[in-house]
Amino acid sequence: MNNFKYSIPTTIYFGKDQLGHLAELKASGERVLLVYGGGSIKRSGLYDSVMKILAEAGLKVTELSGVEPNPRIESVRRGVDLCRENQIDMVLAVGGGSVIDCAKVVAAGACYDGDAWDLVLDGGKIKAALPVYSVLTLSATGSEMDNFAVISDMSKNEKWGTGSPLLKPVMSVLDPTYTFSVSKKQTAAGTADMMSHTFENYFTNVKGAELQGHLCEAVLKTCIQYGPIAIKEPDNYDARANLMWAGSLAINGLLNGGAEVAWCVHPMEHELSAFYDITHGEGLAILTPVWMSFVLKKDPSKTGQLAAYGRSVWGLSGEDQEVAQAAIDKTAQFFFETMGMPKNLREVGITEKTHFEEMAAKAEAGCHGSFVPLTKEDIVSIYEAAF
Ligand code: NZQ
Ligand code: ZN
Repeated sequence: MNNFKYSIPTTIYFGKDQLGHLAELKASGERVLLVYGGGSIKRSGLYDSVMKILAEAGLKVTELSGVEPNPRIESVRRGVDLCRENQIDMVLAVGGGSVIDCAKVVAAGACYDGDAWDLVLDGGKIKAALPVYSVLTLSATGSEMDNFAVISDMSKNEKWGTGSPLLKPVMSVLDPTYTFSVSKKQTAAGTADMMSHTFENYFTNVKGAELQGHLCEAVLKTCIQYGPIAIKEPDNYDARANLMWAGSLAINGLLNGGAEVAWCVHPMEHELSAFYDITHGEGLAILTPVWMSFVLKKDPSKTGQLAAYGRSVWGLSGEDQEVAQAAIDKTAQFFFETMGMPKNLREVGITEKTHFEEMAAKAEAGCHGSFVPLTKEDIVSIYEAAF
Protein backbone atom coordinates (compact mmCIF):
# COMPACT_ATOMS: atom_id res chain seq x y z
CA MET A 1 0.00 0.00 0.00
CA ASN A 2 1.25 3.52 -0.82
CA ASN A 3 1.54 6.40 1.63
CA PHE A 4 -1.39 8.79 1.39
CA LYS A 5 -3.07 11.83 2.86
CA TYR A 6 -6.77 11.62 3.55
CA SER A 7 -8.65 14.77 4.45
CA ILE A 8 -12.32 15.45 3.92
CA PRO A 9 -13.40 18.73 5.40
CA THR A 10 -16.94 18.36 4.06
CA THR A 11 -19.65 18.05 6.67
CA ILE A 12 -22.41 15.76 5.44
CA TYR A 13 -25.97 16.01 6.69
CA PHE A 14 -27.48 12.79 5.43
CA GLY A 15 -31.15 11.78 5.48
CA LYS A 16 -34.61 13.26 5.61
CA ASP A 17 -35.33 16.80 6.80
CA GLN A 18 -31.76 18.09 6.82
CA LEU A 19 -32.31 21.22 4.75
CA GLY A 20 -32.61 23.47 7.83
CA HIS A 21 -28.84 23.13 8.18
CA LEU A 22 -28.53 25.64 5.35
CA ALA A 23 -28.94 28.28 8.07
CA GLU A 24 -25.30 27.40 8.88
CA LEU A 25 -24.24 29.24 5.72
CA LYS A 26 -24.28 32.35 7.90
CA ALA A 27 -20.85 31.25 9.15
CA SER A 28 -19.47 32.28 5.73
CA GLY A 29 -21.06 35.73 5.45
CA GLU A 30 -24.38 37.03 4.25
CA ARG A 31 -24.38 37.11 0.43
CA VAL A 32 -25.02 33.79 -1.32
CA LEU A 33 -24.81 32.89 -4.98
CA LEU A 34 -27.45 30.17 -5.50
CA VAL A 35 -26.52 27.98 -8.48
CA TYR A 36 -29.00 25.60 -10.11
CA GLY A 37 -29.81 23.89 -13.39
CA GLY A 38 -32.62 23.85 -15.88
CA GLY A 39 -35.56 23.81 -13.48
CA SER A 40 -35.85 20.39 -11.79
CA ILE A 41 -35.53 22.06 -8.38
CA LYS A 42 -38.42 24.41 -9.19
CA ARG A 43 -40.64 21.52 -10.29
CA SER A 44 -39.87 19.52 -7.14
CA GLY A 45 -40.46 22.45 -4.78
CA LEU A 46 -36.91 22.30 -3.44
CA TYR A 47 -36.17 25.79 -4.74
CA ASP A 48 -38.96 27.28 -2.59
CA SER A 49 -37.79 25.41 0.50
CA VAL A 50 -34.19 26.57 0.01
CA MET A 51 -35.21 30.19 -0.55
CA LYS A 52 -37.37 30.17 2.58
CA ILE A 53 -34.56 28.86 4.80
CA LEU A 54 -32.03 31.31 3.37
CA ALA A 55 -34.45 34.23 3.85
CA GLU A 56 -35.21 33.21 7.43
CA ALA A 57 -31.47 33.06 8.10
CA GLY A 58 -31.15 36.63 6.85
CA LEU A 59 -29.05 35.68 3.83
CA LYS A 60 -29.15 37.72 0.62
CA VAL A 61 -29.46 35.58 -2.51
CA THR A 62 -28.25 36.17 -6.07
CA GLU A 63 -29.14 33.45 -8.60
CA LEU A 64 -27.21 31.71 -11.36
CA SER A 65 -29.73 29.47 -13.11
CA GLY A 66 -29.75 27.36 -16.25
CA VAL A 67 -26.50 25.51 -15.67
CA GLU A 68 -26.34 22.85 -18.40
CA PRO A 69 -25.65 19.13 -18.03
CA ASN A 70 -21.96 19.00 -19.04
CA PRO A 71 -21.65 22.55 -17.66
CA ARG A 72 -20.20 25.17 -19.95
CA ILE A 73 -17.45 27.66 -19.26
CA GLU A 74 -19.87 30.42 -20.34
CA SER A 75 -22.06 29.61 -17.29
CA VAL A 76 -19.01 29.72 -15.06
CA ARG A 77 -18.07 33.13 -16.44
CA ARG A 78 -21.61 34.43 -15.81
CA GLY A 79 -21.34 33.18 -12.23
CA VAL A 80 -17.96 34.83 -11.69
CA ASP A 81 -19.36 38.15 -12.92
CA LEU A 82 -22.33 37.82 -10.54
CA CYS A 83 -19.97 37.15 -7.64
CA ARG A 84 -17.98 40.29 -8.41
CA GLU A 85 -21.01 42.53 -9.03
CA ASN A 86 -22.74 41.41 -5.82
CA GLN A 87 -19.75 40.94 -3.47
CA ILE A 88 -20.75 37.32 -2.98
CA ASP A 89 -19.41 35.58 0.16
CA MET A 90 -20.24 31.93 -0.65
CA VAL A 91 -21.68 29.72 -3.36
CA LEU A 92 -24.56 27.27 -2.81
CA ALA A 93 -25.17 24.62 -5.49
CA VAL A 94 -28.56 22.89 -5.53
CA GLY A 95 -28.60 20.13 -8.14
CA GLY A 96 -26.60 17.34 -9.70
CA GLY A 97 -22.91 17.11 -10.48
CA SER A 98 -23.06 19.64 -13.29
CA VAL A 99 -24.46 22.32 -11.01
CA ILE A 100 -22.00 21.55 -8.21
CA ASP A 101 -19.05 21.50 -10.63
CA CYS A 102 -20.07 24.83 -12.10
CA ALA A 103 -20.47 26.31 -8.60
CA LYS A 104 -16.99 25.11 -7.62
CA VAL A 105 -15.25 26.79 -10.54
CA VAL A 106 -17.33 29.94 -10.05
CA ALA A 107 -16.14 29.97 -6.43
CA ALA A 108 -12.51 29.70 -7.54
CA GLY A 109 -12.96 32.05 -10.50
CA ALA A 110 -14.32 34.77 -8.20
CA CYS A 111 -10.96 34.77 -6.41
CA TYR A 112 -8.83 34.64 -9.56
CA ASP A 113 -7.53 37.55 -11.54
CA GLY A 114 -8.02 36.12 -15.02
CA ASP A 115 -10.31 33.92 -17.07
CA ALA A 116 -11.82 30.94 -15.21
CA TRP A 117 -10.89 28.62 -18.11
CA ASP A 118 -7.25 28.91 -16.89
CA LEU A 119 -8.39 27.17 -13.68
CA VAL A 120 -10.07 24.37 -15.64
CA LEU A 121 -6.86 23.71 -17.54
CA ASP A 122 -4.65 23.92 -14.45
CA GLY A 123 -6.03 23.28 -10.97
CA GLY A 124 -2.67 24.38 -9.57
CA LYS A 125 -3.68 27.96 -10.38
CA ILE A 126 -6.52 27.76 -7.83
CA LYS A 127 -5.02 29.62 -4.87
CA ALA A 128 -8.28 30.67 -3.22
CA ALA A 129 -12.00 29.99 -3.54
CA LEU A 130 -15.20 31.18 -1.94
CA PRO A 131 -16.72 28.56 0.38
CA VAL A 132 -18.85 26.05 -1.56
CA TYR A 133 -21.99 24.41 -0.14
CA SER A 134 -24.26 21.90 -1.87
CA VAL A 135 -27.66 20.25 -1.77
CA LEU A 136 -27.40 17.13 -3.90
CA THR A 137 -30.33 16.08 -6.09
CA LEU A 138 -28.76 13.33 -8.24
CA SER A 139 -26.56 10.47 -7.05
CA ALA A 140 -23.67 10.05 -9.46
CA THR A 141 -20.55 12.16 -9.58
CA GLY A 142 -19.57 12.48 -5.92
CA SER A 143 -18.92 16.18 -6.53
CA GLU A 144 -20.71 16.84 -3.23
CA MET A 145 -17.71 15.47 -1.36
CA ASP A 146 -14.72 15.65 -3.69
CA ASN A 147 -12.23 18.20 -4.96
CA PHE A 148 -12.98 17.89 -8.68
CA ALA A 149 -15.01 19.83 -11.22
CA VAL A 150 -15.48 19.10 -14.92
CA ILE A 151 -16.21 21.97 -17.32
CA SER A 152 -16.67 22.08 -21.09
CA ASP A 153 -15.88 24.57 -23.80
CA MET A 154 -18.02 23.22 -26.63
CA SER A 155 -16.70 25.82 -29.07
CA LYS A 156 -13.37 23.96 -28.91
CA ASN A 157 -14.77 20.47 -28.18
CA GLU A 158 -12.94 20.48 -24.89
CA LYS A 159 -14.03 19.00 -21.58
CA TRP A 160 -11.51 18.90 -18.76
CA GLY A 161 -11.51 18.01 -15.12
CA THR A 162 -9.78 20.28 -12.64
CA GLY A 163 -9.10 19.70 -8.98
CA SER A 164 -8.04 21.48 -5.83
CA PRO A 165 -8.57 20.85 -2.12
CA LEU A 166 -10.08 24.35 -2.09
CA LEU A 167 -13.00 23.05 -4.15
CA LYS A 168 -14.19 20.57 -1.54
CA PRO A 169 -17.59 21.66 -0.28
CA VAL A 170 -17.76 22.95 3.28
CA MET A 171 -21.07 21.20 3.76
CA SER A 172 -23.40 19.07 1.66
CA VAL A 173 -26.99 18.10 2.37
CA LEU A 174 -27.70 14.58 1.14
CA ASP A 175 -31.42 13.86 1.37
CA PRO A 176 -32.27 10.76 -0.68
CA THR A 177 -35.88 11.92 -1.07
CA TYR A 178 -34.62 14.72 -3.36
CA THR A 179 -33.57 12.01 -5.82
CA PHE A 180 -37.01 10.36 -6.04
CA SER A 181 -37.78 12.53 -9.10
CA VAL A 182 -34.63 11.55 -11.02
CA SER A 183 -35.57 9.87 -14.33
CA LYS A 184 -34.80 6.22 -15.14
CA LYS A 185 -32.19 7.39 -17.67
CA GLN A 186 -30.36 9.59 -15.15
CA THR A 187 -30.69 6.99 -12.38
CA ALA A 188 -29.02 4.42 -14.61
CA ALA A 189 -26.37 6.89 -15.78
CA GLY A 190 -25.65 7.96 -12.20
CA THR A 191 -25.28 4.35 -11.06
CA ALA A 192 -22.94 3.62 -13.98
CA ASP A 193 -20.90 6.71 -13.11
CA MET A 194 -20.35 5.73 -9.49
CA MET A 195 -19.56 2.17 -10.56
CA SER A 196 -17.03 3.51 -13.05
CA HIS A 197 -15.37 5.65 -10.36
CA THR A 198 -15.12 2.49 -8.29
CA PHE A 199 -13.73 0.39 -11.17
CA GLU A 200 -11.14 3.07 -11.94
CA ASN A 201 -9.93 2.82 -8.32
CA TYR A 202 -10.33 -0.95 -8.00
CA PHE A 203 -8.20 -1.96 -10.98
CA THR A 204 -4.90 -0.70 -9.62
CA ASN A 205 -1.31 -1.87 -9.89
CA VAL A 206 -0.55 -1.06 -6.26
CA LYS A 207 -0.01 -4.27 -4.30
CA GLY A 208 -1.30 -4.93 -0.82
CA ALA A 209 -4.13 -2.36 -0.71
CA GLU A 210 -6.57 -5.09 0.29
CA LEU A 211 -8.95 -2.96 2.31
CA GLN A 212 -9.40 -0.44 -0.48
CA GLY A 213 -10.18 -3.33 -2.84
CA HIS A 214 -12.79 -4.77 -0.51
CA LEU A 215 -14.36 -1.35 -0.02
CA CYS A 216 -14.62 -1.08 -3.82
CA GLU A 217 -16.33 -4.46 -3.96
CA ALA A 218 -18.83 -3.30 -1.33
CA VAL A 219 -19.65 -0.16 -3.29
CA LEU A 220 -20.07 -2.16 -6.51
CA LYS A 221 -22.35 -4.70 -4.84
CA THR A 222 -24.44 -1.89 -3.38
CA CYS A 223 -24.90 -0.33 -6.84
CA ILE A 224 -25.77 -3.69 -8.37
CA GLN A 225 -28.30 -4.38 -5.63
CA TYR A 226 -29.99 -0.99 -5.47
CA GLY A 227 -29.64 0.48 -8.98
CA PRO A 228 -32.37 -1.75 -10.44
CA ILE A 229 -34.64 -1.15 -7.43
CA ALA A 230 -34.33 2.62 -7.83
CA ILE A 231 -35.27 2.25 -11.51
CA LYS A 232 -38.37 0.18 -10.75
CA GLU A 233 -39.38 2.02 -7.56
CA PRO A 234 -38.12 5.60 -7.85
CA ASP A 235 -39.32 6.48 -4.34
CA ASN A 236 -37.76 3.50 -2.58
CA TYR A 237 -35.92 5.34 0.19
CA ASP A 238 -33.36 2.66 1.02
CA ALA A 239 -32.43 2.21 -2.63
CA ARG A 240 -31.97 5.96 -3.11
CA ALA A 241 -30.11 6.28 0.20
CA ASN A 242 -27.66 3.48 -0.53
CA LEU A 243 -26.96 4.84 -4.01
CA MET A 244 -26.48 8.34 -2.67
CA TRP A 245 -23.91 7.32 -0.09
CA ALA A 246 -22.19 4.96 -2.55
CA GLY A 247 -21.79 7.86 -4.99
CA SER A 248 -20.07 10.00 -2.38
CA LEU A 249 -17.73 7.26 -1.14
CA ALA A 250 -16.72 6.16 -4.63
CA ILE A 251 -14.68 9.28 -5.30
CA ASN A 252 -13.94 11.03 -2.00
CA GLY A 253 -10.49 9.47 -1.62
CA LEU A 254 -11.58 6.55 0.54
CA LEU A 255 -11.19 3.96 -2.23
CA ASN A 256 -8.04 5.19 -3.92
CA GLY A 257 -5.91 6.57 -1.06
CA GLY A 258 -2.90 4.23 -0.93
CA ALA A 259 -3.97 2.42 -4.11
CA GLU A 260 -3.46 5.25 -6.61
CA VAL A 261 -3.82 4.60 -10.32
CA ALA A 262 -4.45 6.89 -13.30
CA TRP A 263 -8.05 6.69 -14.51
CA CYS A 264 -8.46 5.85 -18.16
CA VAL A 265 -12.14 5.15 -18.94
CA HIS A 266 -12.99 8.66 -17.77
CA PRO A 267 -10.58 10.45 -20.12
CA MET A 268 -11.97 8.37 -22.99
CA GLU A 269 -15.56 9.27 -22.03
CA HIS A 270 -14.83 12.95 -21.53
CA GLU A 271 -13.85 13.12 -25.20
CA LEU A 272 -17.19 11.60 -26.22
CA SER A 273 -19.00 14.25 -24.18
CA ALA A 274 -16.73 17.01 -25.47
CA PHE A 275 -17.49 16.18 -29.09
CA TYR A 276 -21.06 14.87 -28.86
CA ASP A 277 -22.46 16.26 -25.57
CA ILE A 278 -23.63 12.83 -24.44
CA THR A 279 -24.64 11.86 -20.88
CA HIS A 280 -21.44 11.04 -18.96
CA GLY A 281 -22.72 7.85 -17.28
CA GLU A 282 -24.04 6.43 -20.54
CA GLY A 283 -20.68 6.91 -22.21
CA LEU A 284 -18.99 5.16 -19.29
CA ALA A 285 -21.39 2.21 -19.39
CA ILE A 286 -20.71 1.74 -23.11
CA LEU A 287 -16.94 1.96 -22.75
CA THR A 288 -16.45 -0.06 -19.55
CA PRO A 289 -17.05 -3.63 -20.78
CA VAL A 290 -15.15 -2.87 -24.00
CA TRP A 291 -12.25 -1.54 -21.97
CA MET A 292 -12.29 -4.60 -19.69
CA SER A 293 -12.17 -6.91 -22.72
CA PHE A 294 -9.32 -4.87 -24.16
CA VAL A 295 -7.38 -5.15 -20.89
CA LEU A 296 -7.84 -8.90 -20.83
CA LYS A 297 -6.56 -9.20 -24.39
CA LYS A 298 -3.68 -6.71 -24.17
CA ASP A 299 -2.28 -7.78 -20.80
CA PRO A 300 -3.16 -11.36 -19.76
CA SER A 301 -1.32 -10.79 -16.47
CA LYS A 302 -4.42 -8.85 -15.38
CA THR A 303 -6.70 -11.88 -15.74
CA GLY A 304 -6.43 -12.68 -12.04
CA GLN A 305 -7.67 -9.24 -11.01
CA LEU A 306 -10.65 -9.41 -13.35
CA ALA A 307 -11.38 -12.90 -12.04
CA ALA A 308 -11.19 -11.65 -8.44
CA TYR A 309 -13.78 -9.03 -9.39
CA GLY A 310 -16.01 -11.77 -10.82
CA ARG A 311 -15.73 -13.91 -7.72
CA SER A 312 -16.23 -11.16 -5.13
CA VAL A 313 -18.81 -9.01 -6.84
CA TRP A 314 -20.71 -11.50 -9.00
CA GLY A 315 -20.20 -14.68 -6.95
CA LEU A 316 -18.68 -16.52 -9.92
CA SER A 317 -16.45 -19.57 -9.62
CA GLY A 318 -14.09 -21.47 -11.89
CA GLU A 319 -10.75 -20.95 -13.62
CA ASP A 320 -9.38 -17.39 -13.83
CA GLN A 321 -9.76 -17.00 -17.60
CA GLU A 322 -13.32 -18.20 -17.65
CA VAL A 323 -14.36 -16.17 -14.58
CA ALA A 324 -12.71 -13.00 -15.92
CA GLN A 325 -14.64 -13.29 -19.18
CA ALA A 326 -17.89 -14.08 -17.36
CA ALA A 327 -17.39 -11.03 -15.11
CA ILE A 328 -17.12 -8.79 -18.17
CA ASP A 329 -20.27 -10.35 -19.60
CA LYS A 330 -22.10 -9.80 -16.29
CA THR A 331 -21.02 -6.15 -16.28
CA ALA A 332 -22.35 -5.62 -19.80
CA GLN A 333 -25.56 -7.46 -19.02
CA PHE A 334 -26.09 -5.33 -15.91
CA PHE A 335 -25.73 -2.03 -17.76
CA PHE A 336 -27.50 -2.91 -20.99
CA GLU A 337 -30.20 -5.35 -19.88
CA THR A 338 -30.90 -4.85 -16.17
CA MET A 339 -30.45 -1.06 -16.23
CA GLY A 340 -31.68 -0.63 -19.81
CA MET A 341 -28.82 1.61 -20.91
CA PRO A 342 -27.70 2.33 -24.48
CA LYS A 343 -25.17 -0.32 -25.45
CA ASN A 344 -23.12 1.30 -28.17
CA LEU A 345 -22.09 4.72 -29.44
CA ARG A 346 -24.65 4.69 -32.23
CA GLU A 347 -27.42 4.40 -29.64
CA VAL A 348 -26.32 7.70 -28.06
CA GLY A 349 -26.29 9.42 -31.43
CA ILE A 350 -22.62 9.04 -32.41
CA THR A 351 -23.13 7.84 -35.94
CA GLU A 352 -19.74 8.55 -37.50
CA LYS A 353 -16.13 7.82 -36.61
CA THR A 354 -14.74 11.12 -37.90
CA HIS A 355 -13.25 12.33 -34.64
CA PHE A 356 -11.96 9.06 -33.16
CA GLU A 357 -8.30 9.82 -33.93
CA GLU A 358 -8.46 13.33 -32.50
CA MET A 359 -10.39 12.18 -29.43
CA ALA A 360 -7.97 9.33 -28.81
CA ALA A 361 -4.97 11.65 -29.08
CA LYS A 362 -6.48 13.86 -26.36
CA ALA A 363 -7.55 10.97 -24.13
CA GLU A 364 -4.17 9.25 -24.29
CA ALA A 365 -2.48 11.69 -21.91
CA GLY A 366 -4.94 10.75 -19.17
CA CYS A 367 -4.14 7.06 -19.55
CA HIS A 368 -0.44 7.26 -18.60
CA GLY A 369 0.01 5.23 -15.45
CA SER A 370 -3.35 3.54 -15.77
CA PHE A 371 -4.04 -0.13 -14.94
CA VAL A 372 -2.98 -1.06 -18.45
CA PRO A 373 -1.48 2.01 -20.18
CA LEU A 374 -3.25 2.73 -23.46
CA THR A 375 -1.74 4.17 -26.63
CA LYS A 376 -3.64 6.36 -29.05
CA GLU A 377 -4.12 3.33 -31.32
CA ASP A 378 -5.48 1.28 -28.41
CA ILE A 379 -8.02 3.98 -27.65
CA VAL A 380 -9.12 4.21 -31.28
CA SER A 381 -9.72 0.49 -31.27
CA ILE A 382 -11.75 0.78 -28.04
CA TYR A 383 -13.91 3.49 -29.67
CA GLU A 384 -14.28 1.25 -32.74
CA ALA A 385 -15.39 -1.69 -30.64
CA ALA A 386 -17.84 0.55 -28.73
CA PHE A 387 -19.28 1.89 -31.98
O1 NZQ B 1 -30.71 20.88 -14.81
P1 NZQ B 1 -31.81 20.31 -14.02
O2 NZQ B 1 -33.14 20.85 -14.38
O3 NZQ B 1 -31.55 20.31 -12.54
O4 NZQ B 1 -31.94 18.74 -14.48
C1 NZQ B 1 -30.90 17.80 -14.32
C2 NZQ B 1 -30.21 17.44 -15.63
O5 NZQ B 1 -31.07 17.61 -16.71
C3 NZQ B 1 -31.53 16.49 -13.93
N1 NZQ B 1 -31.75 16.37 -12.49
C4 NZQ B 1 -30.88 16.57 -11.48
N2 NZQ B 1 -31.47 16.30 -10.30
C5 NZQ B 1 -32.74 15.94 -10.58
C6 NZQ B 1 -32.92 15.98 -11.96
N3 NZQ B 1 -34.10 15.69 -12.56
C7 NZQ B 1 -35.12 15.34 -11.75
N4 NZQ B 1 -35.01 15.26 -10.40
C8 NZQ B 1 -33.85 15.55 -9.78
N5 NZQ B 1 -33.75 15.43 -8.46
O6 NZQ B 1 -30.62 15.51 -14.36
C9 NZQ B 1 -29.94 15.97 -15.52
C10 NZQ B 1 -28.46 15.64 -15.40
O7 NZQ B 1 -27.89 16.38 -14.34
P2 NZQ B 1 -26.29 16.49 -14.20
O8 NZQ B 1 -26.00 17.34 -13.03
O9 NZQ B 1 -25.70 16.85 -15.51
O10 NZQ B 1 -25.87 14.96 -13.91
P3 NZQ B 1 -24.67 14.38 -13.11
O11 NZQ B 1 -24.86 14.55 -11.66
O12 NZQ B 1 -24.51 13.02 -13.61
O13 NZQ B 1 -23.42 15.28 -13.52
C11 NZQ B 1 -22.71 15.04 -14.71
C12 NZQ B 1 -21.52 15.99 -14.85
O14 NZQ B 1 -20.56 15.77 -13.81
C13 NZQ B 1 -19.27 15.50 -14.39
C14 NZQ B 1 -19.66 14.85 -15.71
O15 NZQ B 1 -18.59 14.83 -16.62
C15 NZQ B 1 -20.79 15.74 -16.16
O16 NZQ B 1 -20.30 16.95 -16.68
N6 NZQ B 1 -18.44 14.72 -13.47
C16 NZQ B 1 -18.02 15.30 -12.34
C17 NZQ B 1 -17.18 14.67 -11.46
C18 NZQ B 1 -16.72 15.31 -10.21
N7 NZQ B 1 -17.05 16.55 -9.94
O17 NZQ B 1 -16.01 14.70 -9.43
C19 NZQ B 1 -16.66 13.35 -11.70
C20 NZQ B 1 -17.42 12.60 -12.73
O18 NZQ B 1 -16.63 11.56 -13.22
C21 NZQ B 1 -17.95 13.42 -13.86
O19 NZQ B 1 -16.98 13.58 -14.87
ZN1 ZN C 1 -17.61 9.96 -13.67
